[in-house]
Amino acid sequence: MSNRGSFSSKIGFILAAAGSAVGLGNIWRFPYLAGTNGGAGFLIIYLICIFTLCFPVMIGEISIGRKAGSDAYGSYKKIGGGVWGYLGIYGILAGILILSYYNVVAGWAFGYFIEIVFGNLLDHNDFGAFFGSYVNDIGPIFLFSLGFMVMTAVIVSQGIAKGIEAANKIMMPGLYIILIGLIVYSLTLPNAMAGIDFYLVPKLSDINSKTLFYALCQAFFSLSLGMGCLITYGSYVTKDQNIVKSAAIISLADTSVAFLSGLMVFPLVFSLGAEPGQGPKLIFVILTQAFQYMGPVVGKIVGGSFFLLICFAALTSTISLLEVPAAFLVDQRKFPRKAVVWGLSGLIFVLGLPSMYSQGLVPLLNKLPIHNTPDFLSFVADLCDIMLISGGCLMCIFIRNNWKMNNMNEELAIGNAGYTGSILKSYITFTISWVCPILLGILSILVITDKYFGLEWLFGR
Ligand code: PFF
Repeated sequence: MSNRGSFSSKIGFILAAAGSAVGLGNIWRFPYLAGTNGGAGFLIIYLICIFTLCFPVMIGEISIGRKAGSDAYGSYKKIGGGVWGYLGIYGILAGILILSYYNVVAGWAFGYFIEIVFGNLLDHNDFGAFFGSYVNDIGPIFLFSLGFMVMTAVIVSQGIAKGIEAANKIMMPGLYIILIGLIVYSLTLPNAMAGIDFYLVPKLSDINSKTLFYALCQAFFSLSLGMGCLITYGSYVTKDQNIVKSAAIISLADTSVAFLSGLMVFPLVFSLGAEPGQGPKLIFVILTQAFQYMGPVVGKIVGGSFFLLICFAALTSTISLLEVPAAFLVDQRKFPRKAVVWGLSGLIFVLGLPSMYSQGLVPLLNKLPIHNTPDFLSFVADLCDIMLISGGCLMCIFIRNNWKMNNMNEELAIGNAGYTGSILKSYITFTISWVCPILLGILSILVITDKYFGLEWLFGR
């Protein structure tokens, strides 16, 4: 394992995995999904999914990676033999697809940072209309997305420890500080309490099968699960690390950022008299409006810092997304890391172009003939979500039927003296053998048959 590199410290792994988890998913996607799916009802289901399904799956992934010490494909193959390697490939493909559209959204956020600091974004009076035209202003968006991909490639080509650990040490504390500052500000605005009510007081009528599906997918996406990202990062983890404790810290860090983002966004939404269910443009519209209210100088400083931190958070996630296929090609094909990283980045950037052009520029990409799927970017995002939850389900089946629970538990007991005989061990064993594979399996089948075979039991028409 030594020539593959490893994290230079225990905290290095936790920071890198938390950096992978905390990203656009927490600050951009979580609030808009909560906004379109009932607010507090979504939040509650999201938290239940994290505790019952995601936490055990995260532990499973890290332990597979550390045990096998290889990339996603190599780890499944090493422990389970031939065919299981394809489960790793499935995850690697999901990672490539996620990065293709994620990089486009990161380009939007990067563009907003530049526009706030160097342009006159905050002078506009209709931020919804501005967003619509901005994402179709293809020159800058192309450049900003390309710039983002290049930054990702530069860091990943440096290897695991140097680039990734360093970036996170600055980003995480900065993000918490600015989120808390904005929450305090938003709570002082008139009608802020209506936002708190929407976000924290559940109404049973708002919870339905759609809420369940989106909350589960969001939880998987947010914690970077189901595609071998944490198998890959787990392969760089040393044996003295307590996997269960690390997973708890990572889950908590990620969930708290998502929770705080909601706490920042919804009071703003209601005090500005805006609509919580406006979809992917939500934070771009609401926050710029709030920054404008702060006045030209303060708005520029706070808005600039906020979008810069979002870019940092997105960067530590794109790094982890690129690391998954890169580790595969370096480990399995013995290609040089630099060539692999630049080749993959170019390919994934090109794969992202249809998503980039799907926001109105190319009508064919903007109105797909799939129900509940407005544009190509959403189509890829939905497909990836399904790949993540089905990938998580198959991983549990792999551990349960192939690797076996007692072997996983043995791995988990390394670096964790009290694990054997603990309640946590029984909980993890039970959830990975029964709860996760059954629930994730049923939901994957329901969603696939609903979305792509028109059975309509989850979403309706
Ligand atoms: N967890 C990241 C976010 O919330 O933005 C996105 C992500 C990164 C998903 C890495 C999957 C992954 F492997």
